[in-house]
Amino acid sequence: MKGLILSGGRGTRLRPLTYTNAKQLIPVANKPILFYGIEAIVNAGIDDIGIVVGETGEEVKAAAGDGSKFDCKISYIQQDAPLGLAHAVKVSQEYLGDDRFVMYLGDNVIKDGINDLVAEFRNDKPNSQILLAKVANPTQFGVAELDGDRVARLEEKPEKPKSDLALVGVYMFDKSIHTAVNSIEPSGRGELEITDAISWLIDNGYRVVPHIIGGWWKDTGKLDDLLEANRIMLDLLERDIAGSVDGTSKIEGKVVIEKGATITGSRIRGPAVIGEGAEVINSFIGPFTSVGPGAKIKNSEIDHSILLDECSIENAGARMQDSLIGRRARVFRTEGLPHVLRFMLGDMSEAGLL
Ligand code: TTP
Repeated sequence: MKGLILSGGRGTRLRPLTYTNAKQLIPVANKPILFYGIEAIVNAGIDDIGIVVGETGEEVKAAAGDGSKFDCKISYIQQDAPLGLAHAVKVSQEYLGDDRFVMYLGDNVIKDGINDLVAEFRNDKPNSQILLAKVANPTQFGVAELDGDRVARLEEKPEKPKSDLALVGVYMFDKSIHTAVNSIEPSGRGELEITDAISWLIDNGYRVVPHIIGGWWKDTGKLDDLLEANRIMLDLLERDIAGSVDGTSKIEGKVVIEKGATITGSRIRGPAVIGEGAEVINSFIGPFTSVGPGAKIKNSEIDHSILLDECSIENAGARMQDSLIGRRARVFRTEGLPHVLRFMLGDMSEAGLL
């Protein structure tokens, strides 16, 4: 079996970060979201993975490399434009050949992995198996209607959903999916939809079966989803203090302080992670916060936030919360008079004031 991870797309809902960086490389608990997907596939016993990339391909390649650090082989497949999930399968046909494969959306995090799903698909050998989860708001998802042990119908964001079972971003296919993606037409929004391809399989008598997950999962398309994923994944960390902590600092609970990080006169309350080489001086880092490598936090209080590499927060004045701070971004207090707010915000940035 092979793995296919979709790491192209536009990531419009996470602008401005996605103007300059791949959304799949935004870190959750200081690890790129994409790596959770790679690890889930490798854990399920698959060591041949293709990653579909778009405009941010070079960055994705630099991060994941040839796969050796995950004990797998990674090939990259270029998708010239994000023309839909089924289009991503189409451009991967040469790589996939006639093999069965698991397709994993590169911005999804599934806490308990996909071992059960892959094992079931291997044993039962349906044409396709889709991962479903019960959701409170099915109108915002692709929704599946079941008939016994089969999927009878799929509907994209239905006004009157027939069930509360939403499609989670993991799908298993055999080679029949290639006939399906070659047979469907683009949808109203101009994309080749994977739900249309799966519906084609159902309508043409292929066997599509569900796998319902009970555990936590998230499609991290928006800021709140990222913060939630960060919260869940930080909670799984084991306390590990490799960096240096001075005698006046307090480290409480599940905290990871990576090597080369220095904590001075500060309190870190877990779950939290402080990245390699980061500096925390006279500050409070509260629960559910990830501080990226090389970041500098001075005279500030932060909780429930994700801070990327080499950003700096100095003399913030009020507690920062629910924030996502990009690479090398700076938050600081202006000196002298007049007391003004001074910003240099990129397109579509957000600043919440007191
Ligand atoms: P989406 O989140 O549906 O799309 P997007 O990344 O363009 O984001 P937004 O809606 O904020 O603009 O995509 C799910 C995953 O699939 C994500 O990891 C990107 C990837 N993808 C591709 O690789 N190729 C594509 O053509 C599309 C549409 C998505």
